[in-house]
Amino acid sequence: MPQPYGLLAEVTHQCPLHCVYCSNPLELRGRQDELTTDDWLRVIREAAGLGVVQVHFSGGEPLVRGDLETLVAECRRLGLYTNLITSGLGLTENRARTLVSAGLNSAQLSIQGDAAESTDLVAASKRFDKKQDAARIIREAGLPLNMNVVLHRMNLPRLDAIIDVCVSWGAERLELANAQYYGWALRNRDQLLPTKAQLDEAVDVYERRKAELAQHMELLWILPDYYEPYPKPCMGGWAQTALTVAPDGVVYPCPVAAEITTMEFSSVRDHHLEWIWSSSAAFEAYRGTEWMADPCRSCPRKELDFGGCRCQAFALTGDAGRTDPVCMHSPDHHLIQDALVRANEPDGAASGELVREELVYRRPSMSARR
Ligand code: SF4
Ligand code: FES
Repeated sequence: MPQPYGLLAEVTHQCPLHCVYCSNPLELRGRQDELTTDDWLRVIREAAGLGVVQVHFSGGEPLVRGDLETLVAECRRLGLYTNLITSGLGLTENRARTLVSAGLNSAQLSIQGDAAESTDLVAASKRFDKKQDAARIIREAGLPLNMNVVLHRMNLPRLDAIIDVCVSWGAERLELANAQYYGWALRNRDQLLPTKAQLDEAVDVYERRKAELAQHMELLWILPDYYEPYPKPCMGGWAQTALTVAPDGVVYPCPVAAEITTMEFSSVRDHHLEWIWSSSAAFEAYRGTEWMADPCRSCPRKELDFGGCRCQAFALTGDAGRTDPVCMHSPDHHLIQDALVRANEPDGAASGELVREELVYRRPSMSARR
């Protein structure tokens, strides 16, 4: 049985932003469904018992929870490394101080682009200034500043300027995460999927800046899998290295699996985390390679990419057990190719000037409109 080393604690789905590529499920959990402080303390203890060594506090916006310091302190007591994944909105000097005193080890600040306009377009928020404040607060609190930006057709042409912003704010590490298309991002795929030319130019920028900044900032490039011949080894394989606990206590092998509506996932309200990890049907379903059908079953790459992403297979085909359609050998690969053809058409709907009204912003009421 593999041992998880990371816990993604999605302590809330509440968030001041409305990003069009949010990794949260379309069915957002309300505040009334959230685990209590005592529930989370138990989850953290059970995770430590299971072998977890890193806890990433995420959301939504985790700063919305007033008990974050209590949870971080419990992690410190248990010797777990803690990371705060934040939009920066709501981070004050005082909050940073209390979190660091509780034992917070690092913070990752997300931006949507290099200016207020891009934040407004992608996240329906004008608070770019708050992100700059948050970067300063994180550094003044003595934490390393890690930054993250999701890349897509609206901001890829601004990559140089985005990197400049992160350098000027003092980031030590910048994750350039090309958008992955599930959930909200899949809803907005026609507006987000870049052209091949945009991507090629961005790769040049990334390589040039990575070399230039080698002594100052680490640059990471998360591959845009639609343009790859083989899928990514998502999560290092299903239920191999990490688990996600959603705000309502339901446990998933990855942050997106809540979208797989054909599977039943268990809750920490009903079961010990150890049982969910090692014995629940959902975690067992795609662990290892035994579950695979062809073409994966007889493919020499099956131990390298594990058949790709289960969430992507479900999102595109309705069957989480199929080969990830990104794979050139998948019988469903045309689903990817069709999207790429549309993205690269000079006059297609996907390539027109972005119209804000066409974007579907992350909002709690989305489920009612499905
Ligand atoms: Fe990976 Fe399956 Fe494609 Fe082989 S056939 S490369 S194992 S996704
Ligand atoms: Fe869930 Fe890939 S995002 S398995």
